[in-house]
Amino acid sequence: MRLSTIIFLLILIGITGIQFINVEKTNPPVTADLDAPIEVKTILQQSCYDCHSNETKWPWYSKVAPVSWMVSKDVVEGREHLNFSDWEKLLPAKQRKLKEEIWEEIEKDNMPISNYTLFHPSSKLDLMKKQTIKKWAIGN
Ligand code: HEC
Repeated sequence: MRLSTIIFLLILIGITGIQFINVEKTNPPVTADLDAPIEVKTILQQSCYDCHSNETKWPWYSKVAPVSWMVSKDVVEGREHLNFSDWEKLLPAKQRKLKEEIWEEIEKDNMPISNYTLFHPSSKLDLMKKQTIKKWAIGN
C-alpha cells in the first residue's frame, strides 16, 4: 500500500471513530414555555430557540462529530444561561433581569452568535425585529 493510502485510511478510521463519542443532543420536555406577544415570540423562536429552549432543531450536520461537539456545547451552555422552555416558572424579578440581559446581548450584536447566523441567515435580527424585542424587553 502507498503511504498516502495508509494516511487516508487512518484519517477515515479516525473520523469514523469519533462518531461514537457520545454528546448531549436531547430535547427535554417543555414545561413552562415563554408566554409573549406572537410577534415577539416568533422572533425569539426563529433566532434564539435553537440554543435557548428545549425545542432545539438538530440538523444532520449537528449530529456529525466534530461539529456536533461544538453545537452541543452551545446548546448546553445556552440553556444554562437562558431557557425559554422554563420561562414561566421564573420569578418576575428574574424574568426582568433576563429581559435586560436579552436586550443587552442583542444591542451589542452578541446574540445570536455569529457562527450560528452564518448557517441560519434568517436568524439575523434586522432593525425592525430588534425594535420589537427592545419594546418587549425594556419597554421602550
Ligand atoms: C448558537 C446558539 C445560540 C443562539 C442561536 C443564541 N444564543 Fe444566547 N447564548 C448562547 C451561549 C452558548 C451562551 C453562553 C455563553 C455566552 O455568553 O457567550 C449564551 C448566552 C446568552 C445570554 C446570557 C448572557 C450572559 O452574560 O449571561 C443571553 C441573555 C442570551 N444568550 C440571549 C440570546 C438571545 C436573545 C438570542 C436570540 C436573539 C440568542 N441568545 C441566541 C448560545 C446561543
